Amino acid sequence: MKKRIINFFDERIDLAPIRNWVRHKTISQHKHSFWYYFGGLALFLITVQIITGIMLAFYYSPNPATANESVRYIMERVHYGWLIRSIHFWGANFLVAVVFVHMFSTYFMKAYRKPREMMWILGILILGLVLAFSFTGYLLPWTTLSYFATKVGVNTPLVIPGIGGFLARIMQGGADVGAATLTRMFTLHTVVLPLTALILISLHVLLSQILGTSVPLSQKGYTEQTRFFPDFVMRDAAVWAGGFAILLAFATIFPANLGSKVNPVMPAPPGIKPEWYFLFVFQTLRTVPEIVAMGVITLGALIWLLVPFLDKKSSRGEKSRFFTLFGLAVLVYMVAMTITAYITTEVH
Ligand code: HEM
Repeated sequence: MKKRIINFFDERIDLAPIRNWVRHKTISQHKHSFWYYFGGLALFLITVQIITGIMLAFYYSPNPATANESVRYIMERVHYGWLIRSIHFWGANFLVAVVFVHMFSTYFMKAYRKPREMMWILGILILGLVLAFSFTGYLLPWTTLSYFATKVGVNTPLVIPGIGGFLARIMQGGADVGAATLTRMFTLHTVVLPLTALILISLHVLLSQILGTSVPLSQKGYTEQTRFFPDFVMRDAAVWAGGFAILLAFATIFPANLGSKVNPVMPAPPGIKPEWYFLFVFQTLRTVPEIVAMGVITLGALIWLLVPFLDKKSSRGEKSRFFTLFGLAVLVYMVAMTITAYITTEVH
């Protein structure tokens, strides 16, 4: 049967080169190989998000009069609706965490060095998309918290002179967060971002296949080869199964709750703070004048994006301690600011 199916395709399109490529592809194994599973795990989690997101979209209604009620309907009336929503909620958090681990691990292993500069640039753009997914999804349940947190988010660009007001209005679709904002966030979350992500992630993964995985400079000469198929694929599958088991455990033990429907004329409740992955930005904006904070964060992001071109030593195969220290400084800063924001914000 298997042979007949293969023959059916071979007679029409010649798949032999692909089969040969899969059969002969090998992956380098070394002391730091563990970190190379995070890219695949991110790929798996984004697939879970797309599947659960489509399921939620069958019932969700993007209108201020019905949004909160439709989410309540999903949770209380749709079979396993609460579970699908909870997986989507926890999956978003897991995805952001896994993408951050993937980014910092590729950074410290200097995997961005020549010839993988474009993989890094695509990666940063994908990180932006992943964060944008979270930001646009946050408003959709139309709860008091999601409404006021989005208000803070869309008003952040106001500190940028000149174009700030324009950016805020574009995101809001009007003078304030309202029905137009909900429609915009929904369209971005379910159409624009998934399509863009599909293109960028496909290019990123395609490049990883064309270039193969890099070997950290410290491990050159200490590697052995494993077959991509079936050995590496089986290990990847095991990591995905483990990741899914943990995700399922979180989704069932700590189900996502649904806050009360927003009443926009009520004042904002105290202690509004964004999701954990935006806390370092939030804390920076609270600590120094906002315009300085925006300037420093924008400059930092630009340097981070261009690291493959700035760190010429790594590309030449030399040690670049400066960039290791720079990465450490960025990591310590982000963690310290996040912890400070947690400690100093009122719990609501
Ligand atoms: C949803 C987001 C992402 C997905 C699905 C993804 C997927 C992958 C996959 C499957 C690989 C090959 C396996 C591996 O080396 O781990 C990879 C490699 C890589 N990724 Fe990502 N990635 C994502 C985000 C990022 C981000 C945010 C960055 C950094 C800014 C990044 C930078 C890289 C680099 C430099 C490599 C090459 C690693 C090497 O060959 O040593 N990726 N990615």
